[in-house]
Amino acid sequence: MGALEGKFALVTGSGRGIGEATAHKLAAAGARVVINDLDADVAREVAASIPGAIALPADLTDPAAADELIDATLAHFGGLDIVVNNAGYIWHSAIHNMSDAQWDAMIDIHASAQFRILRAYGRWLRGNADRDTPVRKVVNISSTMGLHGGATQLAYAAGKAAVVGMTRSLAKEWGRFNVTVNAVAFGAIETRLTSPYEREPNISVVNGQPRKVGLSHEQIEMAKQASPLGRLGTVQDAANAIYLMCAPESDWITGEVLLASGGVRS
Ligand SMILES: NC(=O)c1ccc[n+]([C@@H]2O[C@H](COP(=O)([O-])OP(=O)(O)OC[C@H]3O[C@@H](n4cnc5c(N)ncnc54)[C@H](O)[C@@H]3O)[C@@H](O)[C@H]2O)c1
Repeated sequence: MGALEGKFALVTGSGRGIGEATAHKLAAAGARVVINDLDADVAREVAASIPGAIALPADLTDPAAADELIDATLAHFGGLDIVVNNAGYIWHSAIHNMSDAQWDAMIDIHASAQFRILRAYGRWLRGNADRDTPVRKVVNISSTMGLHGGATQLAYAAGKAAVVGMTRSLAKEWGRFNVTVNAVAFGAIETRLTSPYEREPNISVVNGQPRKVGLSHEQIEMAKQASPLGRLGTVQDAANAIYLMCAPESDWITGEVLLASGGVRS
């Protein structure tokens, strides 16, 4: 029997990348999983590939989306034991070129969207959890940028630092519901966000506008060299780190930020 048998999990942004790998990992351990993504087609494809999974596509920057997503999850499964707040993307530039829209977009997806998901979940927890109910898990995805900052990453770093603040606050607030709340801060993981700029389809949709994501070859090389392990993380590496915070072995760990960066500490 898998360690997560009988658990219900929501992974946001699980249509591709780290979220998709995490959904597969949690399902392989026995959980039934909700696949959420902005891109409905990829969400449905991933859900179709995982036994017992359902797709609930939604743009989490829509202020109504979080309540609808949590309500639909609870209506389908009747409970929710694991929430992985993963949806996000990077939009970088030096501060003098950074528009208000760019700042708002980074805070919106990384801070406000997570806040609304957690608030919606908290409203359900209040009537359905106490110190004696089985341990539930929240895992919020941050970044080394949120801990250490990075040139041209000001808005993204601010959003990812907010994730850490929310994590530490809720760990204190939700102990009485027997919910552990931890963050995983990733270094560079191989997804479309870290693949070479030139490679198609490096397209992310922000407010209905297509745009490029990715890194230059030089940035990718520098990220590899910064790690004592000499490589970027794979999505399986990332999913494994998230899984640690969902597994029963981490039941006494809460309010922590797990640095999963291949040894990069700055
Ligand atoms: N890849 C890295 O190096 C890295 C490093 C540190 C942190 N992270 C974080 O990990 C998370 C996952 O990133 P990834 O690398 O797997 O990227 P990805 O682009 O491969 O996957 C992210 C998914 O989130 C979805 N998404 C984006 N905005 C959304 C919205 N408004 N509503 C619903 N879904 C939305 C996208 O459609 C996409 O499928 C992000 O929060 C990212 O900031 C990534």
